[in-house]
Amino acid sequence: MNDLLTALMSRRSVRAYRDDPVQPDVPDRILEAMRRAPTAGNQTQYSVIEVEDPGARKTLALTCDNQPFIASAPWVLVFLADVQRLLDYYSHSGVTPKPPREGDALLATADAFVAAQTAVIAAEAEGLGSCYIGDILEHYETVRDLLNLPRYVLPVSLITFGYPTEQQRHRPQPGRMERSSFVFRDRYHRLRGDDLAHVYDYADPGPDRYRSGADTFGQHMHDRKYASDFMNELRRSVAVMFSYWR
Ligand SMILES: Cc1cc2nc3c(=O)[nH]c(=O)nc-3n(C[C@H](O)[C@H](O)[C@H](O)COP(=O)(O)O)c2cc1C
Repeated sequence: MNDLLTALMSRRSVRAYRDDPVQPDVPDRILEAMRRAPTAGNQTQYSVIEVEDPGARKTLALTCDNQPFIASAPWVLVFLADVQRLLDYYSHSGVTPKPPREGDALLATADAFVAAQTAVIAAEAEGLGSCYIGDILEHYETVRDLLNLPRYVLPVSLITFGYPTEQQRHRPQPGRMERSSFVFRDRYHRLRGDDLAHVYDYADPGPDRYRSGADTFGQHMHDRKYASDFMNELRRSVAVMFSYWR
């Protein structure tokens, strides 16, 4: 296997880091690799904030569903879906653009995630572990004020980076869904009946690890994720983001 495939195949999320700071030049190489990521129409509809301020880190650890490792991680990047710069450029160029809509937001979000994943893999190649934090979508009002985000800039991902602790380096990778359940040919295949029975087996830790009251893994996952307080906050927060677009 070549080095790139090795990095892709060996990656797993890392949330516990050694205290060592990221080596000099490494962030620069990662950000340069990220700059080569494809971007829709070469318009760069994303921005990145390196969050260094300890107070801001602490706030983000709290707004992101209270995950303290965000405050202590050696390097933290927030990826933004950024339609603002392009609109400002149009105005500056004497154009009066129509207000952006959902499609603009999705395309800019795609840009941000393509860049984020490029950074994550570049980091892996540099020996740095990383973890995506989707909870950056929560508490939009606080995150917006903290990071000085204008209306058409949405915080879509926070990523922590750091050298994995020894224990992390030896943790096995989580399983992944069987390809037959999500890679299709020509047409979408909706899973039904028996197809659904084993689709999440790869993630099921067994009944003794379910939350109390849950009899099946589906119930457990529903209560822990889909119906959780953090998902309800995330839904509220994203609705507020878009309320300013109308
Ligand atoms: C969009 C997205 C959001 C995520 N949000 C979080 C998060 O808020 N907190 C966290 O600890 N991990 C988060 N993760 C990491 C996943 O939990 C992790 O990828 C998954 O459990 C599989 O583990 P692995 O990456 O080690 O294979 C996120 C991953 C993605 C892609």
